[in-house]
Amino acid sequence: MAAKLLEGKAIAQDIRERLRGRIEELTRQGTQPGLGVVLVGSDPASSTYVNAKERACEELGIKSVDHRLPEDTPETELLRIVDELNRDDTVHGILVQLPLPDQISADRVTMAIDPDKDVDGFHPVNLGRLLRGQECFWPCTPHGVLEILRAGGVKPEGKHAVIVGRSNIVGKPLATMLMQKNETGNATVTVCHTRTPDLSVYTRQADILIAAAGKAATVTGDMLKPGAVAIDVGVNRVDDATKKKGYRLVGDIDFASASEVASMITPVPGGVGPLTITMLLANTVLSAERHRERRGR
Ligand code: GUN
Repeated sequence: MAAKLLEGKAIAQDIRERLRGRIEELTRQGTQPGLGVVLVGSDPASSTYVNAKERACEELGIKSVDHRLPEDTPETELLRIVDELNRDDTVHGILVQLPLPDQISADRVTMAIDPDKDVDGFHPVNLGRLLRGQECFWPCTPHGVLEILRAGGVKPEGKHAVIVGRSNIVGKPLATMLMQKNETGNATVTVCHTRTPDLSVYTRQADILIAAAGKAATVTGDMLKPGAVAIDVGVNRVDDATKKKGYRLVGDIDFASASEVASMITPVPGGVGPLTITMLLANTVLSAERHRERRGR
């Protein structure tokens, strides 16, 4: 393996330790940061994510206000809870875990969250502010990608960043952040997707390749420029009879071949994943600080 491993766990730990001081300071001043967490149903992956988010809050001293609702919860009930969290002065961030069951419109729920508490950064107001380069909440996974690049000493400025995937959660906001006129941006950005005819034409030009397509082995070593930085946002289950659970997790990049060509690469698991939750905590702390400032104290 030629590539240096960019380990998200260690980077996340470092950021969490820095957050701890800010949380202690806020709590001393009477504003303990609070995160409202809503889970509808019992999807195993969503439950795992929500549990991990709550555990992380507890470890750092962020108060979490937990709502676990049955699968058949009506949309009106969820909107009522969001409204309650919007009005709750002790809650600075609101997270409604996606996906939601069919009877609930994720769009309506996302838009019901107060943009000043939208620590996921999914509300159209935050996405609009992001596009315009205004103060906003950065969506957590793209923010985590930027933190990994920073920790690896990779400056996007002047580089060609190629993103595979155009989701509202990762591809689109990440493209916006990397093209932004600031020190974490200034890259030339190409966004590829399922209708891109020959993906490798683009991926081979990438100084920084980010895979967020949701499909294993979307990018293989032969599709990379030698020395490229490869960031893998994917989390896919593949059957593996040698594992107790019967599967293992892999990313969107074929790690074995890509790590022979790239200069740096993130593993899956243990790459971008730990950063996503960390940036959610960071946004919650930032929201509590902004809340204090708005109150003029
Ligand atoms: N489902 C998968 N990722 C996310 C996320 O970052 N936030 C929320 N709310 N739901 C998700």
